[in-house]
Amino acid sequence: MRPTISADVRRALAERIRYYQELGIYDFYRRDAVATGSETSGVLSPEIPIQPEQREDMSPRKATARAVPEENIFEVIASRPETGVNDPVRALKMIREDLGDCTRCRLAKQGRKQIVFGVGNPNADLMFIGEAPGANEDQQGEPFVGRAGQLLTNMIKAMGLERSQVYIANIIKCRPPNNRTPERDECETCSPFLMRQVATIKPKAIVALGAVAARTLLAINDSMSNLRGRWYEFKPTGVRSNDPSWEGAKLAVTYHPAFLLRDPRQKKEAWKDLQMVMKELGLKAPAKTPES
Ligand code: URA
Repeated sequence: MRPTISADVRRALAERIRYYQELGIYDFYRRDAVATGSETSGVLSPEIPIQPEQREDMSPRKATARAVPEENIFEVIASRPETGVNDPVRALKMIREDLGDCTRCRLAKQGRKQIVFGVGNPNADLMFIGEAPGANEDQQGEPFVGRAGQLLTNMIKAMGLERSQVYIANIIKCRPPNNRTPERDECETCSPFLMRQVATIKPKAIVALGAVAARTLLAINDSMSNLRGRWYEFKPTGVRSNDPSWEGAKLAVTYHPAFLLRDPRQKKEAWKDLQMVMKELGLKAPAKTPES
């Protein structure tokens, strides 16, 4: 039997759905009704786990501002703008437009110059995901263009690839003040857009650069030494790809290039990680290991 949903609950649901859409989350699944007797069971949930501390505060002002006439209540369940768009260039452009001049988290007001969306081949087999833009990236609007970026470019070349053949992005798209580590809520607010980028690009493999990227993508709070050296199956959280044949990417973890600049002895270890990725992608190992 279909659960009965009162007008108030329908309105609250519509407001909640709108709220998720403003955060860039569009895909919902229908959870089977459970015998709780609650009229909200068996309805819609976003495809992300919502922690109690993440639950939004539906303040009366917010709710009033977004009130939807009851007859239109389920019109708010729109798909992601890029749904059904099979050209990844267009789809990425749509995700960028949806992001807009983002003010969804505090970083918008903490001195960022611009949003650093991501760069590279929209059809890439390989994606690198770092932590957050630094000063150079904030200036130029492109990820990994400073000293750490130069090292990343050399690492990519050592794998027998050009930078333009891969796609490079970060967990968050705005520079945190003084390059501090991104806060958990900043990662949670920003990463749905990254998930949509991943689902659009459909890479075969992803390399998470450093602990922030690895922990956010894998939702595992572990040390780098435990996280490295193996493959993970990765599906972008909260978003389905247009392509049902894409079953997700393999994900490997390696050291962040900025860490390798501080401790160059670890480059040997990072090179082992990259060789694992090369093997998976059938890339030919260059004759010599990277110098830098
Ligand atoms: N460090 C990162 O994690 N990302 C960048 O884009 C630059 C430095």
